[in-house]
Amino acid sequence: MLLLALFVLYAAALSIALARAGVRSGPLGPNETASRRRPAKVLILGATGGTGRELVAQALQRGYTVTALVRDPSKLRIEHPQLKVIRGDVLDASSVEAAVRDQDAVLSALGHKRYFSPTRTLSKGTGNVVRAMESHGVQRFVCETSLGIGDSTGRMGLYYTLFVIPVILPLYYWDKTRQERAIAASKLDWVITRPAALNNRARRGKYRHGFDVGRFLWTVRISRADVADFMLNQLTMDTYLRTAPGVCW
Ligand SMILES: NC(=O)c1ccc[n+]([C@@H]2O[C@H](COP(=O)([O-])OP(=O)(O)OC[C@H]3O[C@@H](n4cnc5c(N)ncnc54)[C@H](OP(=O)(O)O)[C@@H]3O)[C@@H](O)[C@H]2O)c1
Repeated sequence: MLLLALFVLYAAALSIALARAGVRSGPLGPNETASRRRPAKVLILGATGGTGRELVAQALQRGYTVTALVRDPSKLRIEHPQLKVIRGDVLDASSVEAAVRDQDAVLSALGHKRYFSPTRTLSKGTGNVVRAMESHGVQRFVCETSLGIGDSTGRMGLYYTLFVIPVILPLYYWDKTRQERAIAASKLDWVITRPAALNNRARRGKYRHGFDVGRFLWTVRISRADVADFMLNQLTMDTYLRTAPGVCW
């Protein structure tokens, strides 16, 4: 009983820390609903991952010229005349710098599965991206993080809040809060996208987004294909500029 009480106390303390450390979105300004000029060239990070592959495929369908920065080009398995693949690592500032140069916008779906060791991959990699964007004047950055941090704390549902995040993902989520802060501290035109639990189902094109999505009790979901759809929409919409909307079915 005592152990259970201590665990609940730990989970609650972690939730409070994630809430305070992650980004909190201010209200949408009245002038932030206009549509902006469409970028032509986009860089996609995490392109060999689930969301990243969807981003590449859908960006090409939408007519963008796409560059993918990947560690292993053979994992991408997409070929297209408008797709350029660069081998690199987000932890290597020079490869990020080379990939960011000449782009109009950057989309990131970075992630990894090394949950149980201390990590700074997301925050350090994203820091490199932010610095390269600022130095090359590339303004628009759309980055996928997750529901469950900042002002979305608890919105992954009780199973995540009381088990998955405190037991499996505390170090990973902590790095996501640092990642969000690195973005929010920048001068970029950023949109942080916080999805619910991800699956690989087909794109519906209909989903909920905003600051009150997700459920405190049960876990809601969304497909990686729909997350990619929402992220690509953020290239040309200013509605969520410098905020962190959630997205779920
Ligand atoms: N799973 C969920 O239910 C869920 C829910 C909400 C949010 N999220 C978040 O959503 C994001 C995307 O998740 P996902 O499952 O679609 O992605 P994923 O399959 O985990 O892919 C992650 C991508 O990041 C790349 N990457 C990792 N470290 C890198 C490095 N140092 N340099 C360059 N690329 C690197 C990976 O490349 P390699 O192929 O080379 O490893 C891969 O392409 C993640 O941040 C995840 O935490 C997940």
